[in-house]
Amino acid sequence: MSRKKETLPAGRQVVMSGIRPTGFLHLGNYFGAVRNYVRMQEEYECYFMVADLHSLTTHPDTKELKENVHRVLSENIACGLDPDKVALYCQSHVHETAELYLYLNMLAYKGELEKTSTFKDKARQQPDNINAGLLTYPVLQTADIILHRAKYVPVGKDQEQHLEMARNFVNRFNHRYGEVFPEPVAFNFGEELIKVPSLDGAGKMSKSENQLATLYLSDDDEQITKKVMKAKTDAGPAMPKSPRPDYIENIFLLMKLVSDDAVVKKFDEDYNNCSIRYGDMKKQLAEDMIKFITPIREKTEAIRNNHQYLKAVMEKGAEKARKSARATIELARQAMGLNYF
Ligand code: TRP
Repeated sequence: MSRKKETLPAGRQVVMSGIRPTGFLHLGNYFGAVRNYVRMQEEYECYFMVADLHSLTTHPDTKELKENVHRVLSENIACGLDPDKVALYCQSHVHETAELYLYLNMLAYKGELEKTSTFKDKARQQPDNINAGLLTYPVLQTADIILHRAKYVPVGKDQEQHLEMARNFVNRFNHRYGEVFPEPVAFNFGEELIKVPSLDGAGKMSKSENQLATLYLSDDDEQITKKVMKAKTDAGPAMPKSPRPDYIENIFLLMKLVSDDAVVKKFDEDYNNCSIRYGDMKKQLAEDMIKFITPIREKTEAIRNNHQYLKAVMEKGAEKARKSARATIELARQAMGLNYF
């Protein structure tokens, strides 16, 4: 559902989000995040950032960083993000981020940082590299957001704790130095975030879990078909209008994302009168999935191979982000009393 423009307060609201340049985008990322960004770009002042500095906290080896940054930019543009409408930029290109991060570090306490769930998880995963960047990850994320004085942050549940910390840091800053920053809140277009179920009937699509049950926007036709055809089914319902087991419901959910209503309706009816053939249903789903993913994959490849275009995108994005960042830093320095003439 799209919101009416008239219901928005005067002046565009600022939206900011960060995208980690690790791994490939999958269908869950698309329906859960990217599609939201694409809708927001029409109505909000949007800053979308590739979090390359954050990735150094877990991936100090930068051999593949350039490739990954190019990929994530290309995938997002292929999905519909328009670099002319939003500021699409790399975190490391906007040096003001580091300055604000430093200021905020003085307002962040060791105890609260150590209690953060993501810190505890990462510390467990990389016991030999519990670096200070990992500890202050939420501080850097706060700097990203408030550098544009953004209020709306389109992220999933897993980022809720980081946002709560961001609000704490903002409140501490504002309380000590004067009102400079709005409190950022999680915000998504429409109502519920869509969860895209995994093809193995367990949980949702994810980079880290079962990769064979996750559809990537980079998968080719053969891979898509193979993964979809392997999705778990059974002998079919024995009684009309039987309840659907989770793994069957998931196939219907995936179909609703990419197939025509009439197609979904047909299989719904087939299920309810016990004539459903799961082989046919999966074949149809694979076909529609291919129709959905192929143009995105091809567009991504074309952009990825056009280094000149990517350079122009990054430069333009950084320019827009710096402009907003410089204004904020100026306000912050004034408020903090870092003005000696
Ligand atoms: N921490 C976020 C993630 O893991 C990425 C991120 C970095 C981010 N900076 C941000 C998200 C600013 C929102 C706003 O996905």
